[in-house]
Amino acid sequence: MDILENVSLRQLNTFGIEANARYYAEVHSTAGLQEILLQWRGAAPFILGGGSNILFTGNVERLVIRNCIRGREIIRRDAGRAWVAAGGGENWHEFVLWCLDNGLGGIENLSLIPGTVGAAPIQNIGAYGVELQDVFHSLEATELSSGMEHAFGREACRFGYRDSVFKGPLRGVYCITRVVLELSTEGHKINTSYGAIREMLENRGISDPGIRDVSEAVMAIRRSKLPDPALIGNAGSFFKNPEVPHWQFEQLKALFPGIVHYPAGEGLVKIPAGWLIEQCGWKGQRIGDAGCYEKQALVLVNHGRASGAELLQLAQEIVDSVAEKFGIRLAPEVNVV
Ligand code: EPU
Repeated sequence: MDILENVSLRQLNTFGIEANARYYAEVHSTAGLQEILLQWRGAAPFILGGGSNILFTGNVERLVIRNCIRGREIIRRDAGRAWVAAGGGENWHEFVLWCLDNGLGGIENLSLIPGTVGAAPIQNIGAYGVELQDVFHSLEATELSSGMEHAFGREACRFGYRDSVFKGPLRGVYCITRVVLELSTEGHKINTSYGAIREMLENRGISDPGIRDVSEAVMAIRRSKLPDPALIGNAGSFFKNPEVPHWQFEQLKALFPGIVHYPAGEGLVKIPAGWLIEQCGWKGQRIGDAGCYEKQALVLVNHGRASGAELLQLAQEIVDSVAEKFGIRLAPEVNVV
């Protein structure tokens, strides 16, 4: 197992940002990861998955380890359910398709989310009414400081909206090597709570959708709204949707009667950041090659050769103008490195 020097990360982040890793290694198994960790004597390494939720703002001086641990298997079947394991380096969407091919339901709403299986629990990926935590069983992770393997159940992961313990107190402490999900094999729970899915299925004349219909509807919706990173650099939603207390929402509603909102946790209201950003006039705008996507204002894009610093500057200007107009501070959803 080799540690390489001065490796370009441009092809390894979906923003397509030019950044170099001072040291770089790829690992294909837990044993391979442990071997690298034994060799490495410097500061805590940085684990890279699909590079789809990351903004590099400069070169990375730490060792970058790319998790390429593959493998997918159905571990056990029992009364309409199946426990399925996948390596942390598996591509998430290919894993979703494999599950569909095997008649397994539960993650069809999460079709076409970029990134890897190992990264999915870190931010509790979610879309169209489903979150990873809804089907999560457990994961295995290797502690970077010791090489020791640990298992985490659902409670230990402390999932929240685009959040988990791996974004909080355990940030940068582990590499997630294997994830186990509990999926359905029959009597699938179809989730079409999201209006856009219902509309898409109606347009297609499907009244009794199966898991594959839902997956295809989700793919069509995503393709119509979200830029394909192969064509235009981006990392999906750049900010989280803010949640505000009810009293603050009432004040905002008085000032902005058309404000879009959803119920959130107790006493909270969720407001789509895309709406707030669009209201500030950013949709379709650009500063140099750093832009706010024309079809979905929550997505920042690299039109060509934007640097991480330029994208960060655009993000900061957006945060400032939303704070000024609405009194809400947007927090980034992507990992700024
Ligand atoms: N909206 C606007 N203008 C915009 C974008 C959105 O007014 O430019 C308003 C519209 O009213 C729209 C509403 O916001 O109906 C919600 O928009 P959308 O359905 O596109 O969802 P979102 O809240 O912007 C979230 C996730 C997405 C996920 C979709 C669907 C976050 C941060 N983002 O976006 O996740 O695909 O819901 O479930 O929660 C990601 O995390 O990278 C991501 C793409």
